[in-house]
Amino acid sequence: MKILVVGNGGREHTLCWKISESTKADKIYALPGNAGTADYAENVSIAVDETNQIVDFCIENEVNLVVVGPELPLTLGLVDQLEAAGIDAFGPSALAAEIEGSKDFSKRIMEKYGVPTAKYQSFTNVQRAEAYLSEIGAPCVIKADGLASGKGVFVCLTIEEAQNALNEIMGEKSFGDAGNRVVIEEYLEGQEVSVLAFTDGKTYIPMVSAQDHKRIFNEDQGLNTGGMGAYSPAPMYTEDVEAFVNQYVFEPVIKGMEKEGRLYKGVLYAGLMLTDKGVKVLEFNARFGDPETQVVLTRLDSDLIDIMMAVVEERLDTMDITWKEDAAVCVVMSAAGYPGAYKNGTPIVFKEPDAEIAHNSFVFHAGTAIVDGQVVTNGGRVLGITATGSTIKKAIDNVYRRVETVDFAGAHYRTDIGKKALLYQK
Ligand SMILES: Nc1ncnc2c1ncn2[C@@H]1O[C@H](COP(=O)(O)OP(=O)(O)OP(=O)(O)O)[C@@H](O)[C@H]1O
Ligand SMILES: [Mg+2]
Repeated sequence: MKILVVGNGGREHTLCWKISESTKADKIYALPGNAGTADYAENVSIAVDETNQIVDFCIENEVNLVVVGPELPLTLGLVDQLEAAGIDAFGPSALAAEIEGSKDFSKRIMEKYGVPTAKYQSFTNVQRAEAYLSEIGAPCVIKADGLASGKGVFVCLTIEEAQNALNEIMGEKSFGDAGNRVVIEEYLEGQEVSVLAFTDGKTYIPMVSAQDHKRIFNEDQGLNTGGMGAYSPAPMYTEDVEAFVNQYVFEPVIKGMEKEGRLYKGVLYAGLMLTDKGVKVLEFNARFGDPETQVVLTRLDSDLIDIMMAVVEERLDTMDITWKEDAAVCVVMSAAGYPGAYKNGTPIVFKEPDAEIAHNSFVFHAGTAIVDGQVVTNGGRVLGITATGSTIKKAIDNVYRRVETVDFAGAHYRTDIGKKALLYQK
């Protein structure tokens, strides 16, 4: 099969690597890809939102399966366009991807189908939003309705912060049309866990759990980022919690989306908060998470193409998916200045790891490019170093040993990835 992976992050490098392990993958393209995907795939320089060009490329090159990484092309209807052209695509349709593309839509689905989530109201009118704010007070969370590359959510501890957030979204229009509507919701406290599920719209198979680390510095200090590291499994996601989430989150949402005429196919990502009042859904994403993919797919035993084709052909009920017992940890190395301004083009030096580390660790590229034969930084999150181990503790030791073999000027990474898991382990 010829397979095209859309995207250029750590998630897509991981997808290319895992797909390359399948005996069914004869040729892989990464669009646009990065220096890491180039090891497994032919990089194609088309932007992820150029959906017409992507379809043309697939027709010309007789691509059999397209795997869509990021949310933007999903919400633009890339999967619908590919299907119309007779090309199999892994990912939800535009109508189904609205579960990520509109936070208001996702809240309405949750409310309608009884999925536990924070209390909320949505507004298109600033005065009404302000009136609601003064009614509920702080702390609260203000979210731009549409896609905002992970920057449209403000956790506000004071009413001033909330007013500023409202002004940034609706007044200054910092996120453009994504801020035509805001969702104001109840502030929740607890442990965050990400759980992704494969689904063909009728059957779903949850993946192993993971925990992301959003803040730039150790101990969850500093600004929010796209994710500075992750580990899997998340020990706070116990069997009881898992049974609850299957029954009250995945089951009703997948059934609900079908009832709404928005059959959901692909990966459904549930961002959960484990509060002392039970599990609440923070958000849904319509795709694999980044960096969760790095720790989840390194634990996947089964052939990813088999699973994806079962989703596309709506026969996931016939699949049996197996996972490795080993834990996995991913540490993101970021460019100096990130998540603020940073520069590209810094050369990266890779040293050979010890044989012992080499076989259980991976250097997944995110923001990298090849310039004149040299791998250089090309983004804020540069690399996702990932390692497995028989326990989280061993995976942590392995991953930091591998981190030491990679260097670039100004490289930053957290030194406490996975530490929270150790507190929860029996
Ligand atoms: N109701 C809430 N209470 C407390 N914190 C919240 C709440 N909603 C969101 N957050 C925090 O804000 C973060 C981002 O929120 P959310 O996941 O809704 O936004 P997003 O921009 O879609 O994120 P992503 O880039 O992960 O898709 C969450 O991971 C969580 O830490
Ligand atoms: Mg989201």
